[in-house]
Amino acid sequence: MNKPKRYTITAALPYTNGPIHIGHLAGVYVPADIYARYLRLTGNDVAFICGSDEHGVPITIKAKKEGVSPQNIVDKYHAIIKKSFENFGISFDNYSRTSAKIHHETASEFFKTLYDKGEFIEEITEQLYDEAANQFLADRFVTGTCPKCGNEEAYGDQCEKCGSSLNATDLINPKSAITGNVPTLKETKHWYLPLDKHESFLKEWILNGHKKDWKPNVYGQVKSWIDDGLRPRAVTRDLDWGISVPVEGAEGKVLYVWFDAPIGYISSTKEWAERVGKDWKPYWKSEDTKLVHFIGKDNIVFHCIIFPAMLKAEGSYILPDNVPANEFLNLEGNKLSTSKNWAVWLPDYLEDFPNQQDVLRYALTANAPEAKDNDFTWKDFQARNNNELVAIFGNFINRVVVLTNKYYQGFVPAPNEFSKIDNETLAAVKAFPELISSSIERYRFREASQELMNLARLGNKYLADEEPWKVIKVDEARTQTIMFVALQIASALATLSEPFLPFTSAKLNSILNSTSSAVETSWGDIATKETLLPSGHQIGEAELLFSKIEDDAIQKQLDKLIASKKANEAESKVAEPQKETITYEDFSKLDIRVGTILEAEKMPKANKLLVLKVDTGIDIRTIVSGIAESFTPEEVIGKKVTVLVNLAPRTLRGVESQGMILMTETAEGKLVFVNPDDKSVTNGLQIC
Ligand code: 2FM
Ligand code: ZN
Repeated sequence: MNKPKRYTITAALPYTNGPIHIGHLAGVYVPADIYARYLRLTGNDVAFICGSDEHGVPITIKAKKEGVSPQNIVDKYHAIIKKSFENFGISFDNYSRTSAKIHHETASEFFKTLYDKGEFIEEITEQLYDEAANQFLADRFVTGTCPKCGNEEAYGDQCEKCGSSLNATDLINPKSAITGNVPTLKETKHWYLPLDKHESFLKEWILNGHKKDWKPNVYGQVKSWIDDGLRPRAVTRDLDWGISVPVEGAEGKVLYVWFDAPIGYISSTKEWAERVGKDWKPYWKSEDTKLVHFIGKDNIVFHCIIFPAMLKAEGSYILPDNVPANEFLNLEGNKLSTSKNWAVWLPDYLEDFPNQQDVLRYALTANAPEAKDNDFTWKDFQARNNNELVAIFGNFINRVVVLTNKYYQGFVPAPNEFSKIDNETLAAVKAFPELISSSIERYRFREASQELMNLARLGNKYLADEEPWKVIKVDEARTQTIMFVALQIASALATLSEPFLPFTSAKLNSILNSTSSAVETSWGDIATKETLLPSGHQIGEAELLFSKIEDDAIQKQLDKLIASKKANEAESKVAEPQKETITYEDFSKLDIRVGTILEAEKMPKANKLLVLKVDTGIDIRTIVSGIAESFTPEEVIGKKVTVLVNLAPRTLRGVESQGMILMTETAEGKLVFVNPDDKSVTNGLQIC
């Protein structure tokens, strides 16, 4: 473990155009939280900083789509995202938002400083313009083919396939995301950060400097960027949503979202410092502060090249010590996608698995996409819970607590002579803090979580080998020693699990009654203190830490995903082409009436047919309808329906059908009554 230090830990500011999903949690927020919690536990001075990224084109696009203002969108999702972080125990010291006044001021001031120092190039260039929308097409307002990898769905600022950062004018065959039109070119003035001017510094700092200890995926991406040659990068945009460019002659222009967002880390730190009565400056300006940015791989260039160049140009800030970016998490073999609704949203997870935040935190950490993209599967989630959290961690703790209560009314017994196994076990426990620290400090959170589970394994094995439940019958003195040793392991687990499983750790500390300062165990105590839970200390009653997740709960999640995939396919399905035109005379031949289904029963030996008695207002008649796979008879009785009453009667399986109920078939293949208010009835579905 290192000497205590000051740390500024940032986690990527999430865009507020939707809730957050497991990919965000696995890639950024859980590892950042483990790191922050660990550093606090080991006595460091930590500012763990985040907030909502509320500018940028995706938010404007979402607002346009929903017919509301961008402010409306960011207010909604800021609240939802903030709540999700709280619910999952992400222990930010401050969660701000880039629409906050303090952020607008900080970002404007930062821009002004660079402007006054002559750090920008001012240039009039031709930019893509949508004549119909009367708007310049910055960033995600334009799509086209990536000049680097040929991906036809690249955005004007970035290609998500190859990770290249682009200028909108780089795109081949650009297309407006607003109207679909081919853009024209129009002159406009912008301010550029000359990254080329900072190339030698970046080379020195990252490639020749000490950054070789950065993760290979991060170092590799940065190196290839620098090797490709850096170019000036526009830091302003012609948009109406964002922070106004604070200089003359910039009316109608805002700061580029990637210029203002990382400054959000600084403004959020200021907001925090003001709230808790601290000085924010050492956290950003003191050379003895370690600045660490947790991000996903699509943010690497911004945090390793552009933001450091901005900080360097400003001149009074420290630079990041590390940027432990993760790769991407996939879900059941497919890329997580907000637009395709292929995701596990955090609010939905909590509804289905209430109070099981730690299970998800653990499953995501144990399977984190640290070195390569990784797949989240519900089966793996179930196995991590049932085979590790329940069968190892939970089982060990439960046995220790139940037996201590049963044999000693909850009092930690006094040990007698330690056997060789006892001494080896106690020595092994003492090694765990350093093992886990070492993994965490090298940003290997998967490995760290497995070390934690190994400690629980050690406890479980110790009890299984020593069998206190058998020994108690023949040797009470020995049983006391076994239970004493087991209780020390339980105490170490309560402390060492805190960064990974904060809710479980709190529960376990409360079960062990170890929250009072007399018996509180710090990270460092585990290796150094002779005893963690002293003899005579009384623990509480047993409570289950984890419970088994059954197959049906997992199947429900898989079904949900399949349903969402189908719904998505349905949405993108093209409607059947229009049939041949008919005359009004043809139409007026149809006699369509409103009716009510009075009775319904299954047609014997026919899977699809229901025999209905329908009140048409003219008469009560029998109609045979092919809806039995979509409805039970009970479900349709009493329903108001639309009936074609003058269709020539037909005999189906010996029953004469005197008309037809009008239905439509959703893209998932479910028949539904024609009710435009029904959400599954979408435009273009045919009446059948
Ligand atoms: O990729 C994203 O979700 C961005 N909103 C991350 C911004 S990180 C920082 F610079 F603010
Ligand atoms: Zn590409």
